[in-house]
Amino acid sequence: MNRYREISSALLSWYDRCARDLPWRGIHDAYRTWISEIMLQQTRVDTVIPYYKRFLARFPSLTDLAAGDEAEVLKLWEGLGYYSRARNLLKGARQVVEEYSGKLPKDPRLLAKISGIGPYTAGAIASIAYDIPVPAVDGNVQRVYSRVFGVRENIRLPAERSKLDKLAEVLVPQDRPGDYNQAVMDLGATVCIPGTPNCDQCPLSDFCNAFERGDAADLPLIPGKPASRIIRWTVAVITDGKRTLVRQRTESLLQGLWCFPMLECSSEETPSMLVRKFHLAAEPIRNSIHARHVFTHLVWEMDVLPLRTAAGKKVPAGYRWVSTDELNALAFPAAMNAALRTAKELLREEEL
Ligand code: ADE
Repeated sequence: MNRYREISSALLSWYDRCARDLPWRGIHDAYRTWISEIMLQQTRVDTVIPYYKRFLARFPSLTDLAAGDEAEVLKLWEGLGYYSRARNLLKGARQVVEEYSGKLPKDPRLLAKISGIGPYTAGAIASIAYDIPVPAVDGNVQRVYSRVFGVRENIRLPAERSKLDKLAEVLVPQDRPGDYNQAVMDLGATVCIPGTPNCDQCPLSDFCNAFERGDAADLPLIPGKPASRIIRWTVAVITDGKRTLVRQRTESLLQGLWCFPMLECSSEETPSMLVRKFHLAAEPIRNSIHARHVFTHLVWEMDVLPLRTAAGKKVPAGYRWVSTDELNALAFPAAMNAALRTAKELLREEEL
């Protein structure tokens, strides 16, 4: 057996013993693989499982999803983050209904032309759902291969990236390519983890260059990420006694999700300026609380300020006064958790 086959068989027998039992495994259904793979991007398995189950209970088939509306899809995605994944998924489902009568194609090149499906997801769907021997290379897979094959250059450089892609291509076996790809993913998530890996449990330690050299913890080499930009906001939770004021975002970040009125604060700006912006005579009713949300390249530092105004105020276009029930029905991003909690508390107190 050549070295590549030895590696893939060692990994497959490890998978047969140690595979995680996950709800999207053991089925050959490209739609389900698609949903799971999109949800799993940048998101932990434990977080994804309940979302995956709820999503499929509501949209059991691709045609059901294509007929759904964006607000409902976003509501099902609420808290999962990276909401453009949900919007692209819906767009993609409609595209598959139009172009492929509702059935995802098998060819990874055609899959990669569908909205929201990149080379990684195309490889994952083709291999897992259709048994086509193509790789699916994400960050976890890059980490495993850079350690096993001792890639000690910056893996963001195109030459190193293509080295890893070529290795991934020769490693994926003709037989059980989907299991093989998921075995690498599981290894990267549970054993060959970032930082200090669990080499004592690894089925590939006999083949691993970094294990032999003792520098697995230093690989892969990824140059320092640029520092996150910090934006400071005052977030106004304004109640008129029965309702609170919200706005649906039109910005590309969190587009379509609902937020509370927010004013970007340089140090000179004050809550009273916020109140003026909304033409509201509003009074603070409690001290503000601080909340922080970390996005990929951005941090929001938020002062959440509870305010009260007289009922029935006219509001700028794009804003809406909503009751607690309506608040519960709209999709809010996790960044708004503190504000949302505050709004619900204020509305509950007003009811008493
Ligand atoms: N991460 C991405 N895709 C995965 C899968 N199919 N199983 C486990 N973890 C994953």
